[in-house]
Formats: sequence, structure tokens, C-alpha cells
Amino acid sequence: MSDQPDVELEARLAEQEEFEPPASFVEQANVTDEDIYEEFEENWPDAWERAAELLDWDSEWDDVLNDDDEPFYEWFVGGELNASENCLDRHLADRGDEVAIEWVGEPVDETRTYTYNELHREVNEFAAALREQGVEEEDVVTMYMPMIPELPVAMLACARIGAPHSVVFAGFSADALAERMESADSETLVTCDGYYRRGEPLDHLEKARDGLGNVGHDVTTVIVDRLGDERTVDHRESELDYDSLVDEQQGADVDPVVRDAEDMLFLMYTSGTTGKPKGVKHTTGGYLSYAAWTSHAVLDVKPDDTYWCSADIGWITGHSYIVYGPLALGTTSVMYEGTPDYPDKDRLWEIVDDYDVNQLYTAPTAIRAFMKWGKQYPEQHDLSSLRLLGTVGEPINPRAWKWYYKHIGDEECPVVDTWWQTETGGMMITTLPAVSNMKPGSAGPPLPGIDANIVDTDGEQVGAGRAGYLTVNNPWPGMLRTLYKNDERFINEYWDEYSDPEADEWVYFPEDGAKVDEDGYVTVLGRVDDVINVSGHRLGTMEIESAIVGVPGVAEAAVVGGDHEMKGEAVYAYVITEDGQEENDAFRDEIIEAVEDAIGPIARPEQVIFTHELPKTRSGKIMRRLLEDIANGDELGNTSTLRNPDVVHEIEAKVRGD
Ligand code: WT7
Repeated sequence: MSDQPDVELEARLAEQEEFEPPASFVEQANVTDEDIYEEFEENWPDAWERAAELLDWDSEWDDVLNDDDEPFYEWFVGGELNASENCLDRHLADRGDEVAIEWVGEPVDETRTYTYNELHREVNEFAAALREQGVEEEDVVTMYMPMIPELPVAMLACARIGAPHSVVFAGFSADALAERMESADSETLVTCDGYYRRGEPLDHLEKARDGLGNVGHDVTTVIVDRLGDERTVDHRESELDYDSLVDEQQGADVDPVVRDAEDMLFLMYTSGTTGKPKGVKHTTGGYLSYAAWTSHAVLDVKPDDTYWCSADIGWITGHSYIVYGPLALGTTSVMYEGTPDYPDKDRLWEIVDDYDVNQLYTAPTAIRAFMKWGKQYPEQHDLSSLRLLGTVGEPINPRAWKWYYKHIGDEECPVVDTWWQTETGGMMITTLPAVSNMKPGSAGPPLPGIDANIVDTDGEQVGAGRAGYLTVNNPWPGMLRTLYKNDERFINEYWDEYSDPEADEWVYFPEDGAKVDEDGYVTVLGRVDDVINVSGHRLGTMEIESAIVGVPGVAEAAVVGGDHEMKGEAVYAYVITEDGQEENDAFRDEIIEAVEDAIGPIARPEQVIFTHELPKTRSGKIMRRLLEDIANGDELGNTSTLRNPDVVHEIEAKVRGD
């Protein structure tokens, strides 16, 4: 750790707005040549072959890109491969005894290590078991699992037999699970009895069973025994025990199914503007190439590294950067079951120290918590194995960035602030860590081959320093291909805003606001749709609203995101009750419970504010901006277009009084 006087260093860091890549990092980095940007530009889309070449293909692609039917792009067309083979089999000859997954349970000293040979073995056995249960190519298998090794095993087993997976975050509610299983017509569920949170075994199976109660078709459920003697499960009909299934298939070999590059690898549901979650479809060739390429170029992953992404596999970050990217590159991926403050606030640093972690990829919300807890926690451990730090999920403020750079990276590690989305499959905007200077608070330039722009409402590029809308003007291999069984919504959600189909101009709109500086560095400002970002988790305000209006006694509700010191944003719910409904704490609790039931504890409102009216325009549209201003304690924006301007002041007074 640094032994320089703190005050001096703080002052220096505060002034320095740009940081050069540390020389020790540059010396060994995977990508060091700044010409790569130009190469991609001149040789686009063929330059993307370098991503595909990181993989083993059963047959090579005929065309890099097919754009005949925009915006339904196809990548590496005609190529054939299997993702499980790429993440496992091809490493066995050279690296079979190297560690693929270092799993760290929440209870101290509970760990499991899977070498590539071992992971390959279990994936084969579980793939055989799934087949035995009648799972065929293209059947969607749902996983509703916390951070236990059987989750990546199940994902890779699905990939092996060509059955797309749909992982539902374990923190989501029973209803959320049911909605996703129904939407995907998924007839197989892999789940578990429970897991540990802050030292306590937590039940998970009841939630899964409750969810299945609302699924209209038959489902076969496989249950992993995570809690051992802590909880015994009486299996019901159509419920199977994971261990017995795998035991029955001991030694089984399942040939990886040859998949077309464009065949679906997985579905991932995410929140959008409307109430229904969107089933984002990712493909085998393009997605895997992209996950591998960005892991190589941005996270600087090498086979001998021990790499750690602390996200949950229930989100896209875990799919791309715990499972697919790192395993495709044959590295060691760390996976941690628990929270960063159990048993104490140094847990992450203890893991970095114990496993000699080389890269750490985490979220700003976590970094804000580390900052608040204090530098004494990282200082208890030797973090000198770290070579690179990453962040993802929401904007990071320069203060948090600098704290991370200094107290975790000891000013020796580049920090990559990576902007991307569930839909993009992998990173889109970030510095290449050995190539460009870093500017705290700004993600950086678009990656080579990514044509991102900041435009005004007419789609015209705005100048440096001015806020606008982020757009992407060229396709890329990791992009979503469509929304599951809903091409129309795919076009409406992402392509309608800025495309000009008649001129054959297709522009992807991620629904983020951003600005760019004179060096082309993009600062992402946040969502411009009705999606809020709570601790890096994406939530649709409409989903929360529809849960609230489902409570008897509620007449109307509006949900907005307000600023929150730790979570980034928090849920604020403004609720109009029906006549005669008492506005008391019991009713407030009922509303909160309804949100938790519909979505999960992550969507729990920070505040429920009762009001007799909502601020509306003359055309009847709720003015969410004003509700956000109130939540943030900001000066109110323009109220002159309101039909009922008095109401905002009433609400404001109420919130202040709360
Ligand atoms: C939204 C996507 C990407 C995996 C995790 C979230 C916000 C993401 C950044 C960043 C500023 C960011 C955007 C984006 N976001 N990364 N580095 N700086 N904002 O995936 O749930 O699909 O959410 O997260 O608003 O649109 P997601």
C-alpha cells in the first residue's frame, strides 16, 4: 500500500483530471496498439473477425455480417460452434488441471474448486441428465439460482445440448419467476433449496414453488441441495434431486451439439418502459465472440490469471464476465456467494488476498459502500496481486473512481469504467486500459468498431460538452438479435426513435443520456426512459406501479427514481388512495409488500408518499420530472404546463414533513 502522506496525495488526485495507464500494466497488456481504432474503422466489419478468432469453430463463417434484413443483423453467418465446447473441451488438453472456477461460499472456509476437467465432467453429466428428462435443442431451461457453482454448470450443460437458458435473478420474486417462465414457455426449472445470507440459511425453494403455482404448464424441477443438513427437502412429484441426477450419469459423455452462429445461446429478461419484462435474445457465435473479445481487450484476461467479477450471474454482467468471457479464454474465474460485509467489511479484500486475484470487476454502488466503510478494510490485506480494476452498472462519480484507483489499485491498476447493457451483450464504451488515458467519471471513447454518437432529439450530433442522447450507428457482434418472439417490440423499443428505414439508416437507441468531450470521451448521464437504476439493478417504474395499483385501496400510483447516496437511485412511490382508505403505516407496509411480491426486495420503495393528486400536464401525462425533483429535494422545474400546479407544492410539503 502507498506510504505517501494522505493529504498531499488527495490534493494531487483532486487536481489530476487525467490518468495515464500505469507503465507496469502497459508492458504486459493484451492490447497495446492504438492503431486498433483505425484498423477497425478502415476494415469494418471484417475487423470483427479477430473476436471470432478467439474461439474454436466447427466450421468457419461465410460472411462476417449479413445486413440484408435490417435491423435483424446476423454475424459470422454460416459459422458453426458450441459455446460449452469453447468454454471447456478446448482447454482440456493444455489446461485440464488448471482451475476454471474458484467458488467461495458465504460461510467462512466453505470453498470449492473446479478444474477445467472437473467442470467439464459435471457439465457433461448434467447435460446427459437434462436430455434424459426430455430437454431438446431449442427448449428454454430456466435457472432460478443464487451464486452456487451448479448455476454455471447448468448454463454450460444447456449450451452443450443447444437448449437456451434463461437465468432469473434469485432475488426476484415468485411472481417474477412465473412471468418469465410463462413468457418463454419454459418447461424445465433448475433451482435450489436455499443459500446463505449474512450467516443465515435462506429458503429459496418455497419461492420457486410459489412461482410454479402460477405457471400454466407442467414444469420439471431440478433442485440443488445447497444447504445440506440445514434443510431437508421432501421432493414432490416432478421435483428431482440434482445430485442423484448427476450421479446416475456418472462418466457420461455428451457431444457438444453443433450450433449455428446465429442460434440462440440464451434469453435474459430485463426491464423496459412498459410493464412486461423484455426477453433479450443472445446468439452463440456473435455473443460469445464479443464476450471473449472484450474480456481479452478490456479486462486483459489471460489464461494464467485469477479474475474476479463480483456481480451476480443472474444479471448480464455475470453471464458475460463470470461465465462466458473468462471461461472461453481459459482463465480462472472467482465466484462468491455472499455479501461484501459478511462476516466483516473486509471480505472482498480477504478473497483478493487469498486467491491472488489479478482483475476485479465490480459496481459503483459497491465502491460507494467500500468508501463509506473506510480504507482500513482494504489496508488489512495484501492487494498487490491486482493488475486491473473495472466498474459497471451506473455512472461512477470521480470521487469514488479515485478512491478505487488509490485505495484498491494503489495507483498501479488502470480502472476501466465500462458502459454497456443487457442488450449489448458486452462492453461498448470504455478506455482500452493500456491504450488511452483515463478520465474519472467518464467511461471513455467507444471501443474500436463501435460507432456511438451523442445526438439531439432530431438525431443531429451535438457538440462537445452538451448533453444529448446516446446512439449506436453500427451493429456489433454481441448485440441482441430480437426480443423473444416479439420482433415488433424489438423494433419499437430500440430502433424507432432515430432510424430512417427509407434511407436504410438504422440507429440503435439504448435510452441513455450522455455527453461527449473534445477528446471523444463519453460521460453517461443515465436513463432517459422510465427505467431506474437501484444499486446497479435495472427496474421498470411501470412494473412497480402496476404492483402498487394492484393493492386494494390504491387508486393511482407514480414511481420515480430519486438520488440515493449508496444505491445511486432509490424507488419513490407517490400513491393516491381510494376514498375511505386510511393512509397509515399498515397500508404503507401493504404497498411495500406488494412490490416485493411482484418483483423482489430490490424494488422496495424507499418512501411511499400519499397524495390526493399527481402533477399532470393538460393532456393528462404525469410529470415525473417534478416528482423526481421532489424526491431529490431539488428546486422544482417548470410547473407552468401543469393542469394542477398547486399539487406539487402540497406533495413537496408532505415529503419534507415525512
Ligand atoms: C444500464 C444498463 C451492463 C451490465 C449491467 C447493467 C447503466 C451501465 C454504466 C456505466 C453509466 C451505466 C446505463 C445502461 N450503465 N454501465 N459504466 N456508466 N451508466 O445492465 O441492467 O442492462 O442496465 O445501466 O443506464 O443503460 P442493465
